[in-house]
Amino acid sequence: MSVVDDVVSVRLDDEKNALIILDQTLLPGETKYLTLTTQQQIWDAIYRLQVRGAPAIGIAAAYGVYLAAKQSSATEWAALHADFTEARKFLASARPTAVNLFWALDRMQRCLDACEGQPVSRCKAALLAEAHAIREEDEQVCKAIGENALALLRPGMGLLTHCNAGTIATAKYGTALAPIYLGQDRGYGFRVFADETRPLLQGARLTAWELQQAGVDVTLLCDDMCSIVMKNGWVDACLVGCDRVAANGDTANKIGTSTLSIVASRYGVPFYVCAPTSTIDMNCTSGKDIQIELRQDSEISTLWYKTPQAPAGIKAYNPAFDVTDNEFITAIITEKGVVYPPFEQGLAEIMK
Ligand code: MRU
Repeated sequence: MSVVDDVVSVRLDDEKNALIILDQTLLPGETKYLTLTTQQQIWDAIYRLQVRGAPAIGIAAAYGVYLAAKQSSATEWAALHADFTEARKFLASARPTAVNLFWALDRMQRCLDACEGQPVSRCKAALLAEAHAIREEDEQVCKAIGENALALLRPGMGLLTHCNAGTIATAKYGTALAPIYLGQDRGYGFRVFADETRPLLQGARLTAWELQQAGVDVTLLCDDMCSIVMKNGWVDACLVGCDRVAANGDTANKIGTSTLSIVASRYGVPFYVCAPTSTIDMNCTSGKDIQIELRQDSEISTLWYKTPQAPAGIKAYNPAFDVTDNEFITAIITEKGVVYPPFEQGLAEIMK
């Protein structure tokens, strides 16, 4: 599992007052780490998807607000709180859909709130410990999701995944890719199909790269090929990650996930969503409450091409995510266990 052990997508260099991230926009061609020291740099890295994947965004933001507090010249709690809150609001505006961003920032906020009246040095130490805890817990959570998912799979299965819910999208292991890595270690011999994931190609650039590095049998597909491989009987299960799960099980994930779920349902292929409980948002009653990020037209029309592949000035619609209706989801696999329909009941139980 060398890619899982060797690649760290987000970490803190406390001595340098810096967040170190793997620049995911340069993969697979270049493995380059960026040193981010300002709030603007961290915001930009999240917005540009240099750090991406719901859990990784949350970890980056947690370290980001810690750095804001550390760099604050405040001499007492109230002033530190004001500086922190400004940074929290700023980083929260980077991307709207992945709830882990808000979950991690809220958790950091509660940590500082609980320090009221304490010397600023102690407040900063508490924030550092909380940010580290968020990172470390994510690693454990992903491993547990991997074990829970692996228990539903059998050696030799064909698996289809969309976007990148791998080790670089998390602290370690990933969510949807965690069972594949654990299975690889245990000789399961999975055959994995990775959707390229238009328009930003997280599947082609990141998932195909990660799995190939790990020695997994991986085949790249264009997004519109999911039907033929399922009809051919090559896919035994779909495994995807998520950015936000509503209380009724509706799930926002990378654009195209909903299409995949509908095709899977047509061919009777189980469709599993791998979700840390930090991605479950009980405040959203259904998928209708989830804000979908809209990104620039250029990501579709020009970004990947030497010459534009669409007429200049063409309008484009570029939602980064879609919502998979709960009826197409076989199960939601969390670190606390596997939730089956009816999801309202199961998720409420697990989120108690
Ligand atoms: O726009 P991205 O690349 O951040 O979208 C990421 C996804 O859709 C992932 O599937 C999701 O965040 C889960 S990552 C474990």
